[in-house]
Amino acid sequence: MASLLKIDVSPRGGYSYSRQLGQTFVEGWQAAHAGGTVVERDLAKNQPTFLDLPWIAGAFTPPDQHSDESKAALKVSNEIIAEVQAADHILITTPMYNFQIPAVLKAWIDHLVRVGVTVNYTESGPVGTLLGKKVTVIVASAGAYPKGEPSEAYDHLTPYLKHILGFIGLTDVTFLAAGGASGIQYGKISEEDWKKPFVEKAKELAKA
Ligand SMILES: Cc1cc2nc3c(=O)[nH]c(=O)nc-3n(C[C@H](O)[C@H](O)[C@H](O)COP(=O)(O)O)c2cc1C
Repeated sequence: MASLLKIDVSPRGGYSYSRQLGQTFVEGWQAAHAGGTVVERDLAKNQPTFLDLPWIAGAFTPPDQHSDESKAALKVSNEIIAEVQAADHILITTPMYNFQIPAVLKAWIDHLVRVGVTVNYTESGPVGTLLGKKVTVIVASAGAYPKGEPSEAYDHLTPYLKHILGFIGLTDVTFLAAGGASGIQYGKISEEDWKKPFVEKAKELAKA
């Protein structure tokens, strides 16, 4: 049975464009994968902790040497990793904040990237362990950062996510960039017209 893990990031609830497009994706994915399961992790409601000393001490020592503090610190990490390991497809819906991913998504990534668990250092370099999975990333942003345009250089979110996901083996990553939302705010385009092409794209990606 196919399984989809949905990671939501925006704190804007039902107003969030990235979440709305994510919901369209989920409905399309469910239609294409009868009986498939959807697991949701809402990083706005359930913010991952930041890595601290007990986490680091635990992540770089064998489990039988872990203090109670390290065990507690790694619990979130273990849950986050187990959810990704169990999924066939991971959907991340996120806003762009300050040309990057929001801090809660970075905190989730910090728990997910674990040496000896999701990435192994070998003689030929680091090798990710999360293989054979698809990732779809839906990004909402006020500005637009299309490929080949000078503004592309401001987009530090897309290259970073591609890099860090690939580092842990998640190399099949598709981005849906829902850019230019500021046009709605400035009255240049209606919310419906702005969303239309991205809704179509989300439906198309859900079938893949
Ligand atoms: C704190 C903050 C920082 C933002 N930084 C950027 C940015 O660097 N570039 C951009 O294009 N939009 C930026 N935006 C606009 C959001 O990306 C935009 O409002 C998007 O629709 C938010 O996603 P959501 O609708 O899913 O909540 C920022 C918004 C906030 C609140």
